[in-house]
Amino acid sequence: MKSLKIMPVVGVRPQIIKAAPLLKLLSRNKKVQLELLNTGQHYDLEMSRVFFTDFSLPRPLINLKIGSGTHAEQTGAMMVGIEKAITHHRPDVVLVFGDANTALAGALAAVKVHVPIAHVESGLRSGDRDMPEEVNRILVDHCSDLLFAPTNLAVRNLFNEGISPRSVFHVGDTMVDAMLLWKRAIESSTILHKLALKREDYVVLTTHRAENVDNPRRLNQILSAIAKIRTLTVFPVHPRTRRNLHKFGLWSKFKRSDCILPIAPLDYLDMLSLMSSSKLIMTDSGGMQKEAFLLRVPCLTLRDQTEWLETVKLGANRLVGTSRSRIVKEAKRILAEKDPKKRLSRLKSPFGDGHASERIASILLQKAK
Ligand code: UD1
Repeated sequence: MKSLKIMPVVGVRPQIIKAAPLLKLLSRNKKVQLELLNTGQHYDLEMSRVFFTDFSLPRPLINLKIGSGTHAEQTGAMMVGIEKAITHHRPDVVLVFGDANTALAGALAAVKVHVPIAHVESGLRSGDRDMPEEVNRILVDHCSDLLFAPTNLAVRNLFNEGISPRSVFHVGDTMVDAMLLWKRAIESSTILHKLALKREDYVVLTTHRAENVDNPRRLNQILSAIAKIRTLTVFPVHPRTRRNLHKFGLWSKFKRSDCILPIAPLDYLDMLSLMSSSKLIMTDSGGMQKEAFLLRVPCLTLRDQTEWLETVKLGANRLVGTSRSRIVKEAKRILAEKDPKKRLSRLKSPFGDGHASERIASILLQKAK
């Protein structure tokens, strides 16, 4: 068998998590030559570099250091850099993850120079085209040659859009692989001690979606709801959110609240540890809705749609939007429930068995024969 040159393209924090177990497997395989490319869409230490260290990943061969900008500036600059890297390194396949602009740039650059694309976390749809990620998901899937779907629903979404069943593989979710692989390290995290928190005594909040945090009214509604729930809420603040809290004059207002504990973004191990001991997670992140399910912690999603509909149908997650009264009502309902974690522990997971990365690696290697 000839060796297989794979160029994984990552750039934002959740992509590094999704890619980590697969990159570990591929980097140990002598038949694989990895040419890891980091677009640098996320550049702060706590948003990117710490993740490569956390997972002991190989250092990226190429770092485009693109950083922030408008969608067109960011995606365009990444495409130029990725195209140059593809032309120079001539990979057999370009591997993209999830739905951020980095994935779109990787897929568009590769398809134009006729290099096959494999998409990990393919087939997700929220139905909300106002979200940049939804547009990215659709475009990336329709450029890809190998589509690795995490769930049955994702497979159905792809079939409904006319994608050939021969390109679609139901492999499970690589974020389950990551949680299992780093389970011990997550359990050894000392974050609760560092933040002086007691188990099952606090809520976790994250919000970073452009449609929520770029809108002063919505951001204010979310944080006013937290103040009203009056339960200690740990709030790792994404850089986009921090910038906007200052810009809208909301930071000083909420810093005074004695039930909100704003902290810097956490690395993966501390974040998972913090989430697993919490009694409720409120988020607009896609990955955290799924992680909440896997950790059996109830979740309220601060959006009107979700690409993880399975979690809602199973009763583990509820879409509450950003209205203050709705968030308060639903949070109080869950906080009053007797042992919701017991109820959630009985649910069967639709996200696979923790071997998604192995399946993806073996399909990629078969294609190289
Ligand atoms: C991006 C993804 C989103 C993903 C999220 C994970 C797109 C369209 N969105 O959103 O799907 O859920 O990453 O975090 O690709 N910033 C920093 N330091 C950083 C990165 C960002 O300060 O390291 C600030 C900058 O002010 C920047 C803003 O955050 O303008 C937004 O960053 P950007 O990469 O454009 O999108 P995210 O909101 O992070």
